[in-house]
Amino acid sequence: MTTSMATGTHLFWFSGTGNSLAAARALAAALGETRLLPVTAARRRPPAPAAVVGVVFPVYALGLPQAVERFLETMPLAPDAYLFTVATAARTPGAVHRIADDILRRRGASLAAGWTLRMPGNFAPVNRSFAWGGDSALLERAAARIAGIAAAVRAGQRGLREDSMAPLAWLGQRMRHETQRQLAHTARHFTASRHCTACGLCATVCPVGNITMEEDAPRWGDRCEACSACLQWCPVDAIRMRGLGANRRRYHHPAIRAQDIAEQAGDAGEATPPTAP
Ligand SMILES: Cc1cc2nc3c(=O)[nH]c(=O)nc-3n(C[C@H](O)[C@H](O)[C@H](O)COP(=O)(O)O)c2cc1C
Ligand code: SF4
Ligand code: SF4
Repeated sequence: MTTSMATGTHLFWFSGTGNSLAAARALAAALGETRLLPVTAARRRPPAPAAVVGVVFPVYALGLPQAVERFLETMPLAPDAYLFTVATAARTPGAVHRIADDILRRRGASLAAGWTLRMPGNFAPVNRSFAWGGDSALLERAAARIAGIAAAVRAGQRGLREDSMAPLAWLGQRMRHETQRQLAHTARHFTASRHCTACGLCATVCPVGNITMEEDAPRWGDRCEACSACLQWCPVDAIRMRGLGANRRRYHHPAIRAQDIAEQAGDAGEATPPTAP
């Protein structure tokens, strides 16, 4: 049997509107002695492998964000590390934990456990969570699960995968590459209205450096992760998405600030190669 010299706990996070970051912070606090690292920054500068490794991320189209998949494909792995995932989702996680496990198995590892936390939806065309009036109850329920997840991680729980039931999980796996290809073009649907003040916040919060400020307006590139951070954090709601009513209220997690999300971009933005049209 291979013996690992790896020690410590690493919790990696990816987040557009703060749900996953809030969950990661709460979990790190409950676990204690845990290093919190943005997925995007860890892809640029991978840390040494740890003995316990968790990845916290939002569900996109019944699957994982592309940046998180790429990270799972390349992150440093100790031979006998305990690996787990925590997905945040509006309602349907699809096959996120199964997909994560498949990726890890191709690397000779496996996912010990995968939890899903239901949190407010941030996919503007579909989710109207902020209008339900049920946000705080939803956030409280998600927060209440953290202590149990931390206890299960400490106990080394194995075999749990909080994916959707069979048809949706199957769909998530089947559609995975096509939906990621479509989502990579999300930024083509964004425009900045005349209300834009050229503050540059959208460029700052983009986790993959896909926005540049040109002639006092944002310009979107072609490596979008569809995280909706730019749309949701704009302080004057100036970003419009094709097909989305101009008056749709924006959402972000109440305990997270734009600067926290901006940590993901760091100094260079992420080198996710653009997806072919
Ligand atoms: C492009 C996109 C696709 C999404 N697809 C799903 C989905 O298939 N199922 C689901 O339950 N939530 C879906 N959501 C909602 C997010 O997973 C959920 O709001 C998550 O908690 C957001 O996390 P964040 O605040 O850390 O970015 C989607 C959100 C976006 C932006
Ligand atoms: S965050 Fe909004 S106001 Fe600021 S530059 Fe971007 S679109 Fe303009
Ligand atoms: S362009 Fe907007 S939606 Fe796309 S990755 Fe950047 S912040 Fe997220």
